[in-house]
Amino acid sequence: MNNSDNRTQPLVEEFVRRFATQPTYVAIGPGRVNLIGEHTDYNDGYVLPVALKRDVRIVMRPRNDQHVRLYSLEYDEWFEFDLAQLAYNETILWSNYVQGMAWSLQESGLKLVGIDGVISGNVPRASGLSSSAALEVAMAKALLTASGQLAVLDGPQLAKAAQRAENQFVGVNSGIMDQFISVLGVENQALFIDCRSLAYQLVPFPENAALVIGNTKASRSLAGSAYNQRRQECESGVALLQAVLPGIQALRDVSSEQLEAHKALLSPVVYRRCRHVVGEDERVLQTVAALKQNNLAEVGRLMNASHESLRYDYEVSSEALDIMVDAMRSVPGCYGARLTGAGFGGCAVALVEPGAEQAIADAIFEKYPKATNIWPEVYTTRASTGARVETL
Ligand code: GLA
Repeated sequence: MNNSDNRTQPLVEEFVRRFATQPTYVAIGPGRVNLIGEHTDYNDGYVLPVALKRDVRIVMRPRNDQHVRLYSLEYDEWFEFDLAQLAYNETILWSNYVQGMAWSLQESGLKLVGIDGVISGNVPRASGLSSSAALEVAMAKALLTASGQLAVLDGPQLAKAAQRAENQFVGVNSGIMDQFISVLGVENQALFIDCRSLAYQLVPFPENAALVIGNTKASRSLAGSAYNQRRQECESGVALLQAVLPGIQALRDVSSEQLEAHKALLSPVVYRRCRHVVGEDERVLQTVAALKQNNLAEVGRLMNASHESLRYDYEVSSEALDIMVDAMRSVPGCYGARLTGAGFGGCAVALVEPGAEQAIADAIFEKYPKATNIWPEVYTTRASTGARVETL
């Protein structure tokens, strides 16, 4: 037994109840919170996420055939499939993440074997904390372990395989950030990722800071269509700028000065979308530098600026998110706060002085429900470990 905490043991017992045999492994994929670098990943830019302590786990046992039998604890629902017969399922939506992962690994040329498994997660769903990437990555680790191929793909390759499952099987056109940090997160470190080269660098998360996440619990119904629309607006900006900047491939290659110089080529909306992305890439670089100098006031300032840019230029914030961010910022121990993830709802993250967590939570519970009529959730977290497999 090598359980990292007390969440695995009840799942082991559940597995025994469901399958009448002992499980042999637990595969774990964490969620993430992004410190800064929003809507930059699909523009070949920079991001700076941390892995959460919250994760999806699959307690499992390899089979010696091609069959997969999974029981989801939270949905209280079974799903079974054959690795040779994968098909998008309109009703059991969580099945598409696990099937998609099997599809993607097989697309990479890997021969898989089936598993029996119990799935359980405590990453809040549809909240901008990447519960879907956590499920994909846990499933990838489970399938690779079952077939004895855990070492065949390196971290970035595994992240890309999980992104392909999301893009091509589930049908969500997301970037690489969520899967990448879920695979490669390291305790007490933020991960500075170059989403073009997939080079990455660990940036120590400061000892003298903590993170508070405020979940607006507000619906993200617009998220899918508006996300794709933002991507298209960025692409159209690049296409127009290429007329005068032939060397550019993505907004990552454009500086603020160049964007200003050629502003007249773009519609006002596309210009503002581009200004967010170009400025956000610069803010990520500045945040990495400030973290290295332990200049938390500067990190907070940059997080605040990121939120304003997402709110006014990229237009992916919401009233609920703005109220949440204001509540967080109203506490003196808050260095800065911003929406995290795609936006339109979901969560905000604040960088705070250690010891200020409770005051921030109190401010959120006092102000947010009054203004929105919604009861929020608050989580405190530090940078945690990425995906892993433990032998039971
Ligand atoms: C979602 C996507 C990521 C990224 C963020 C916005 O979380 O899955 O790839 O684009 O939105 O930064």
